[in-house]
Amino acid sequence: MQHFPDVELSNRLKIPILGLGTSHNGGYSHDAVVYALQQCSIRHIDTAKRYGCEEALCKSIVESRVPREDLWITTKLWPGDYGYQSAKEACRASCARLGVEYLDLYLMHWPDCGVPGRSNRDVRADTWRALEEMYDEGLCRSIGVSNFLIPHLEELKEDGGVMPHVNQVEFHPFQQPWQLVEFCRSEGVAFEGYCPLAKGQALHHPLIVELAQKYGRSASQICIRWSIQNRIITIPKSTKPDRILENCQVFGFQLEDTDMAAMHALHDGRRVSWDPTHVESLGSRWLKRTWRVSGDYMQTKSLFISATRSGTDNENGAAGSAL
Ligand SMILES: NC(=O)c1ccc[n+]([C@@H]2O[C@H](COP(=O)([O-])OP(=O)(O)OC[C@H]3O[C@@H](n4cnc5c(N)ncnc54)[C@H](OP(=O)(O)O)[C@@H]3O)[C@@H](O)[C@H]2O)c1
Repeated sequence: MQHFPDVELSNRLKIPILGLGTSHNGGYSHDAVVYALQQCSIRHIDTAKRYGCEEALCKSIVESRVPREDLWITTKLWPGDYGYQSAKEACRASCARLGVEYLDLYLMHWPDCGVPGRSNRDVRADTWRALEEMYDEGLCRSIGVSNFLIPHLEELKEDGGVMPHVNQVEFHPFQQPWQLVEFCRSEGVAFEGYCPLAKGQALHHPLIVELAQKYGRSASQICIRWSIQNRIITIPKSTKPDRILENCQVFGFQLEDTDMAAMHALHDGRRVSWDPTHVESLGSRWLKRTWRVSGDYMQTKSLFISATRSGTDNENGAAGSAL
């Protein structure tokens, strides 16, 4: 059986560098997840309360017969559940839906909290305290955040006792937040990239198609290999067994340095999911507010605000549906 390389976290736990995404976009396929576990040696699964598939995932895991201790299960706390007590209740509810007694990684899904009358910073700190306690109790073997930018991490560092073990952020050839990657690494926070295929958009880019021909691989394998070669934990999603198998066959070849550099140059700042740059952190002077216009389309507008702990952007709250 194939064993995927691991990335060691600051608490010495090892997370497989390649996992399977399960976001609600495109739906959930029980057969594909069972196939991933049984036939592709996938042992790392990324989910979230938000994706609505924790119970379905439980059934897939049971059917796969892969022992719990061989799996790495990540799930996420939705901002609607932020707060000390509600975070603990939400974590236990996720465990119950997943049919597990502990999580390998529990992430705060998004830095915006949307609690009227309370600053994001305070709510994040309260929530983080709950995660730290669940980490101490062993209910969560590691804890982390998602979509946090440098100011959000700096605040959490000041307010909390444990630095997040992981920050899960959008990362693909068009979105390469290297400053954030370096900051995370310098603070001992493992960087995990989501949407490694840019939700499929990267698969038609001429350079990636050319590299696929050069290496005799698929465009998807080039993107995933590029993430892995950058030492980024990556979690491509597919609902199709043949594509999941293809996405796992990324360890038998290496991209040359010149090709890594060429892909490095593809960054254009494009996001295919949601954009956390608007989320308030104490000391921010510019706040970008995001208005939900329709469906997944988000329009962003910059507003000048004074540095304050209040003024949370509640208009859109954390209701982006693109994640
Ligand atoms: N923390 C966050 O806020 C956040 C946000 C977004 C995503 N995530 C996580 O990251 C995971 C991955 O992101 P994502 O699912 O949005 O995007 P993605 O993995 O970049 O792309 C998924 C899309 O690519 C297609 N695809 C997959 N493999 C393919 C292949 N070999 N050839 C052609 N098409 C292929 C899939 O379609 P088919 O299903 O039809 O194959 C699907 O439409 C999510 O599932 C979720 O777990 C987290």
